[in-house]
Amino acid sequence: VTVNELRNRAQFNARNCKEVKDKYGQTENGLYYLNTATGGVYQTFCDMTTAGGGWTLVASVHEDNIYGKCMVGDRWTSQQGNNANWPQGEGNWANRKTFGTVEAATDDDFKNPGYYDIEAEDMSVWHVPNNTPVNHWNLAAIMRYHTDRHFLHLYGGNLYQLFHSYPVEYNVGAHLSDNGPSIPIVYDLGDKESTKNVYDPYSGGEIEGGFISFRAINHERAATAICSGVKPKGGNVEHYCIGGCGFFPEANPLQCGDFTGFAWNGYGTHIGFSASKQMLESAVLLFYR
Ligand code: G3P
Ligand code: CA
Ligand code: CA
Repeated sequence: VTVNELRNRAQFNARNCKEVKDKYGQTENGLYYLNTATGGVYQTFCDMTTAGGGWTLVASVHEDNIYGKCMVGDRWTSQQGNNANWPQGEGNWANRKTFGTVEAATDDDFKNPGYYDIEAEDMSVWHVPNNTPVNHWNLAAIMRYHTDRHFLHLYGGNLYQLFHSYPVEYNVGAHLSDNGPSIPIVYDLGDKESTKNVYDPYSGGEIEGGFISFRAINHERAATAICSGVKPKGGNVEHYCIGGCGFFPEANPLQCGDFTGFAWNGYGTHIGFSASKQMLESAVLLFYR
């Protein structure tokens, strides 16, 4: 523990990065300690610059091995196989389990207490190449955007609550008609077209850039968690939405995993239903404000 860390822990009594900025005048991007409602303490990254700053990193979704189909490391789907008898899989989108560390948020999955503890209004998302050190995340990112309409007010203030209203569960509904919300985004790096281009070419006809979407369901009634940068207009959501339930029926088990069916036509080929290599090899960092 460094002197700065001790000073940080002692000085700040903040539940999120916006308080660190507003109450304590901190304007530097970096690691800070935050408190939970029940007295817990955890360390995470604060983005103090984007659109006024005050963004708290609460989670990252990382694909360690796209060939491992719902195996170890697939914390945002299932680590115990593709199984219709385990419809919610790990259930981590809607529980209080935490894992990982902030400094390894681009090297492995990360989820801290802020995910459920913070009552937020908006989200920001960074796609950062795997194994990038914290101080290079901002510059290394391939896509960054945020919402600005305070949409989380409508869904309980965080993803923990949102996914209680929209369970990430196999067979919970039908594609398109039972999808969760799609929220317009403001790009900080990238645009609608570049977003479509990092996903696979075949899905291009069924996605629209400029949104973040939640609990999208596919043709076979598998539920995914987040479609980052896009709004689904069809049912092959397994090629452009991450995280999900514990069972993906089509081509069992090929679509089960944190990055679902992103390598359907080969690893990073950007052919057919395969996303680009840069998308496949970047962690998805989720922030609240
Ligand atoms: O998700 C892709 C699948 O639904 C169709 O793929 O390869 O059978 O055309 P394919
Ligand atoms: Ca993972
Ligand atoms: Ca499909």
